[in-house]
Amino acid sequence: MAILPIIRLPDPRLRLVSEPVARIDGEILQLLDDMLETMYEAPGVGLAAIQVAVAKRVIVADTARGDEPKTPLVFVNPEIVWASEELNVYQEGCLSVPEYYEDVERPARVRVRFLDREARTQEIEADGLLATVLQHEIDHLEGGLFIDHLSRLKRERVVKKFTKAARERSAAAQVQDRVEA
Ligand code: NI
Repeated sequence: MAILPIIRLPDPRLRLVSEPVARIDGEILQLLDDMLETMYEAPGVGLAAIQVAVAKRVIVADTARGDEPKTPLVFVNPEIVWASEELNVYQEGCLSVPEYYEDVERPARVRVRFLDREARTQEIEADGLLATVLQHEIDHLEGGLFIDHLSRLKRERVVKKFTKAARERSAAAQVQDRVEA
């Protein structure tokens, strides 16, 4: 297992539409394990493959809290097949938009169809936090981010902030390269 680097806003790869997984082979199983390890280490409650720069339709999640036993979940080619009319609001964040949180309204319950590690088709009906996490992660597979659900003003403000931070990081990295040269 390995902890993978998580890409951040405004990395353009976050806007890619991920490709379906054609076959669950050793490489995909390794990716699932690495993504779980990366998510736990972050720590986060969900992670989509594109956040570790892999444009495949794979997500992992675990909504167990604090000292509850871990409940690692993996979803290959997940799709929402039903969503409730009833809505729910959660304060969301994203490992690719670190330390930024905003309320997002989404369907309170969803049914998701996916392939498990053994390539069997499964369905899960989720509510509460897991329903929100699944929708948030499935958005990533379409190149979506939770900030797309916010007002344009808020979204532009956060994109600007992260673009500036990325510029500063790359300027600092260049200085370091020169020193190490
Ligand atoms: Ni996210």
